[in-house]
Amino acid sequence: MQRGMSFFLELHPMNWLFSFSLILCSVFLCRAAVYGRTDELQQSTSWDFVIIGGGTAGSVLANRLTEDLNTSVLVLEAGVSNIGAVPTQIPFFCTLPHPEYDWNYTTTAQEGLNGREIAYGRGFILGGSSSVNGLFYTRGSEDDFNRLADVTGDSGWSWDNVQTYFHRNERWTPPADHHNTTGEYDPSIHSLTGINAVSLAGFPQSINENIIQASNELGGEFQFNLDMNSGTPLGLGWLQATIDGGNRSSAATSYLGPEFINRPNLHVLVNTRVTRILQSSPSSSDGSPILTTVEYAFSPDGPRYQVTASKELLLSAGAIGTPQILMNSGIGNSSFLTSMGIPVLMDLPSVGQNFTDHPRLVNNWAVTGNHTFDAIYRNSTLSNDLEEVWNERGKGPLVDTFVSHLLFARLNNSVLDQFSADPAAGNHTAHYELGFSNGDINVAPTGHFIGITTRVVTPESRGSVLLNTTDPFTAPLINPELLSTDFDIVTMREAVKTAVKFLNAPVWTGYVVGNPDVPYPGINTTSSDSDMDIDEQLDAYIRNNTGTSAHAVGTAAMSLPDSGYGVVEPNFTVKGVRGLRVIDASIFPFVPSGHTQAPTYVVAERASEMIKEFWAQEGF
Ligand SMILES: Cc1cc2nc3c(=O)[nH]c(=O)nc-3n(C[C@H](O)[C@H](O)[C@H](O)COP(=O)(O)OP(=O)(O)OC[C@H]3O[C@@H](n4cnc5c(N)ncnc54)[C@H](O)[C@@H]3O)c2cc1C
Ligand SMILES: *[C@@H]1O[C@H](CO)[C@@H](O)[C@H](O)[C@H]1NC(C)=O
Ligand SMILES: *[C@@H]1O[C@H](CO)[C@@H](O)[C@H](O)[C@H]1NC(C)=O
Ligand SMILES: *[C@@H]1O[C@H](CO)[C@@H](O)[C@H](O)[C@H]1NC(C)=O
Ligand SMILES: *[C@@H]1O[C@H](CO)[C@@H](O)[C@H](O)[C@H]1NC(C)=O
Ligand SMILES: *[C@@H]1O[C@H](CO)[C@@H](O)[C@H](O)[C@H]1NC(C)=O
Ligand SMILES: *[C@@H]1O[C@H](CO)[C@@H](O)[C@H](O)[C@H]1NC(C)=O
Ligand SMILES: *[C@@H]1O[C@H](CO)[C@@H](O)[C@H](O)[C@H]1NC(C)=O
Ligand SMILES: *[C@@H]1O[C@H](CO)[C@@H](O)[C@H](O)[C@H]1NC(C)=O
Ligand SMILES: *[C@@H]1O[C@H](CO)[C@@H](O)[C@H](O)[C@H]1NC(C)=O
Ligand SMILES: *[C@@H]1O[C@H](CO)[C@@H](O)[C@H](O)[C@H]1NC(C)=O
Ligand SMILES: *[C@@H]1O[C@H](CO)[C@@H](O)[C@H](O)[C@H]1NC(C)=O
Ligand SMILES: *[C@@H]1O[C@H](CO)[C@@H](O)[C@H](O)[C@H]1NC(C)=O
Repeated sequence: MQRGMSFFLELHPMNWLFSFSLILCSVFLCRAAVYGRTDELQQSTSWDFVIIGGGTAGSVLANRLTEDLNTSVLVLEAGVSNIGAVPTQIPFFCTLPHPEYDWNYTTTAQEGLNGREIAYGRGFILGGSSSVNGLFYTRGSEDDFNRLADVTGDSGWSWDNVQTYFHRNERWTPPADHHNTTGEYDPSIHSLTGINAVSLAGFPQSINENIIQASNELGGEFQFNLDMNSGTPLGLGWLQATIDGGNRSSAATSYLGPEFINRPNLHVLVNTRVTRILQSSPSSSDGSPILTTVEYAFSPDGPRYQVTASKELLLSAGAIGTPQILMNSGIGNSSFLTSMGIPVLMDLPSVGQNFTDHPRLVNNWAVTGNHTFDAIYRNSTLSNDLEEVWNERGKGPLVDTFVSHLLFARLNNSVLDQFSADPAAGNHTAHYELGFSNGDINVAPTGHFIGITTRVVTPESRGSVLLNTTDPFTAPLINPELLSTDFDIVTMREAVKTAVKFLNAPVWTGYVVGNPDVPYPGINTTSSDSDMDIDEQLDAYIRNNTGTSAHAVGTAAMSLPDSGYGVVEPNFTVKGVRGLRVIDASIFPFVPSGHTQAPTYVVAERASEMIKEFWAQEGF
């Protein structure tokens, strides 16, 4: 007990309960649950699988692999527990900064953004980025998955084949207000039996009917799409989001939820930073290093601990953490590693390269109405009152994220023809997305707004994640290269023009006033710089105001064994080594044309199945 007491004094207060349960556990010899830290656990126990990162993908693996009670799993998560992290549970607060649950990264100066350095969100909490993200649940297009199948030579990734994994992930759930959802989605393509709750909005926004009316008035690219998760997302439709009643549904609340976390064969350690992966001796008969040992620490200067998986290490630290850990372990571009003084274990020049993300621009136009959500962000009395309503009744505007509808659209052929190639995976795939909000998420000090967030969903730009120092407790250099190609800036420009076109639908007359900062005719603009044409003015506005969607992928890309690039084989093993797979959003060779959590869940669901099948064949 003496020793246990000293443990919890060192802990973050949030983990008091967990360290207490650890003490109880050592008394009663129970083994499950989430721990703040433990020195005893790893000395006395061996693990079949050790998972690095209890994020979106890592939580799926932890759940699925421990369905067999004979398989033991240890999860090492750098961030804090999700239990009691109330601000992350409230869907509407997803737009507010939560530094205590974030890695607090900043990008390098972005040339495409006029040299600005921008904040780059990543969840530092069990559930990873699914615990802090915007909750949008979009599957992407059928073409995205059919292209993944082509690039990896594995038809298992085709749109038809991945439906099984979407269905294992998704548990379709009624919205908080239990309104009649007929006509807002297609029930035939949804699953009631998955683990992660998904629902339509549970609080009616005042502009909902007008958005649908604008779609009817305009037609064309604004045509209503009953369900954008059908594989053909083009058009305007209702957003689906990872919401359970009125709570965020994250990988932690779902896959590591109360039904699963007490499995005796599952252990989750939070506040535990993996520093690198080490070779376990001896090498395999063909000379490939066997990498099943992981080194971790609780503080930069504290002792390093090691644990070895008897079957495999599964690296799920996300598109930034994963390449950082690989490089710190000597896996990456050999000349770069040598320049950093890191001994090379495996020369894989693609580690950290091909970083791809969706540029995101929040546009707002003033409106004459006052039934917007703007006041919630500005008035703390109102916000506290609404939090009480949320807490006590599970109702009110806080049950939803900030967007009620999305539009997925393609560039006009006349624009597309300027480019030698179309980066979209196929012609059912959008080039850009518009998200409609009943207010300004940038929190203007006064006024009422309609917000339209524009994103390029098939960007050509490729960036990188590289080490800045070899200290695993310092941030890597994160360079998404946002808007660094002509295609990307032109596409963002067309997206803003489409937003203006939308606001010129007859239904908005007398409602939308304008925005002096968006220099595009049709809605009020104060722009009078006659030396610049409209496109140049739009580009200046875009480069000054665009940020990230935090949809990072590509830094440990999957490719065919003899492709000459890439980091993992189609079976997720790191090329040239044994015992180590990467399973998270870093493996996408191309960014899906929608928000990345649903595709990441699918990757992790399928990987779990492949791992189980592999070990079943091995006869274990
Ligand atoms: C602010 C924000 C908004 C977003 N909005 C949306 C949205 O609305 N819809 C959508 O679909 N997608 C959204 N995304 C993207 C989506 O959430 C991610 O693509 C997805 O969650 C990535 O899953 P992952 O498993 O690859 O990584 P993560 O879920 O980030 O998991 C990685 C885990 O590894 C841990 N880790 C990292 N390094 C270490 C280490 N050294 N030792 C131990 N643990 C480590 C991290 O703490 C984290 O828990 C958003 C992301 C962010 C950050
Ligand atoms: C688990 O292991 C026990 C003992 O080794 C064995 O009897 C049992 O069949 C195994 N169960 C499964 C599901 O493999
Ligand atoms: C980010 O900053 C907050 C304090 O603002 C801190 O609580 C949190 O631990 C930081 N995240 C990391 C990964 O250091
Ligand atoms: C929901 O609305 C549809 C069509 O508007 C109607 O046919 C259906 O009966 C309604 N369902 C319920 C449960 O009221
Ligand atoms: C980046 O990806 C492309 C395929 O999209 C590939 O041809 C190229 O080799 C990759 N680059 C690196 C450094 O991995
Ligand atoms: C909203 O607008 C109406 C009419 O324009 C006005 O009567 C009312 O006081 C306004 N409410 C708020 C909270 O500003
Ligand atoms: C803030 O909200 C409260 C509660 O709704 C309301 O009474 C108050 O008038 C609001 N304050 C302002 C400045 O609008
Ligand atoms: C959120 O979950 C908690 C506990 O799981 C539950 O008691 C509460 O009613 C839920 N809140 C909402 C708003 O759905
Ligand atoms: C879409 O692509 C397919 C195959 O590449 C082609 O046959 C078809 O004509 C295209 N459709 C449109 C509308 O461009
Ligand atoms: C990189 O490390 C140096 C110190 O070695 C530090 O001054 C600098 O701020 C770091 N850069 C980033 C982007 O973190
Ligand atoms: C433009 O702004 C003026 C004054 O702010 C307003 O009277 C006018 O109605 C606005 N035009 C449109 C199209 O909203
Ligand atoms: C862009 O930002 C710079 C620096 O803040 C400012 O001088 C310039 O006016 C801005 N341009 C636009 C179009 O917003
Ligand atoms: C994964 O695929 C590679 C390349 O085909 C192969 O060498 C390796 O043995 C496979 N590993 C597993 C665990 O299936």
